Amino acid sequence: MSHERLHRIRRHYEARLAADRESYDILDWSSREAQQARFAALLRVLRAEFAPGERPWLLDVGCGLTDLASFLEAAAFPVRYLGADITLGILAEARRRHPGRALLAGDVFAATPLRSRGVDVCYCSGVFNLNLGNNDAFAAAALPRLVELSRAVAVANFLHRRTRHQHPHCHYFDPERLIRSMTARGLEVDLLDDYLENDFTLVLRRSGPG
Ligand SMILES: C[S@@+](CC[C@H](N)C(=O)[O-])C[C@H]1O[C@@H](n2cnc3c(N)ncnc32)[C@H](O)[C@@H]1O
Repeated sequence: MSHERLHRIRRHYEARLAADRESYDILDWSSREAQQARFAALLRVLRAEFAPGERPWLLDVGCGLTDLASFLEAAAFPVRYLGADITLGILAEARRRHPGRALLAGDVFAATPLRSRGVDVCYCSGVFNLNLGNNDAFAAAALPRLVELSRAVAVANFLHRRTRHQHPHCHYFDPERLIRSMTARGLEVDLLDDYLENDFTLVLRRSGPG
């Protein structure tokens, strides 16, 4: 990622930080419910994919303040959680709010110490929201990387182009276009788009055995 884009992302989220501000608000979600509706879409996938008590390894890319870990704890779906984010101020606040959670600073889509198929599930919530001027190309390159890191499945959400009230600083995706670009790269893709008007989730895996 270019330095300019990295700084835009960091500036955007760090400017929203305040010790007494609600996490969904710092992370630029419209409400706690809207943030959690996205996590609930992931939970549906996890319940279909893993037996109760299996405790899959889950890499939460763009973890923000690690609200997903709190959500899964509250839902009594145990995972082995690892969060990663590129915004250092956000990670520092995540550590302050939730000491002891495993966190990694860095860009998972570039060179990282992560092994291919090193986790069971890779998840991305809200990582593609901010308009960086190259979102379609960024997502098309990032999603296969998430699949590469996952043994089972990669799950990511996106703002939907059908959204009625669109913000200029956000990017809105066409699900069909993204799906076509992923199937052209040989990935299997399922679409979940029934949980919010302004969002959709892609569930991706490598096709064929292994
Ligand atoms: C909208 S927030 C969502 C945070 C969290 N996933 C949630 O849903 O509560 C997006 C987060 O993604 C992070 N982010 C954006 N691009 C990233 C990248 N390439 N690698 C890692 N983190 C990234 C930002 O720093 C920010 O914390």
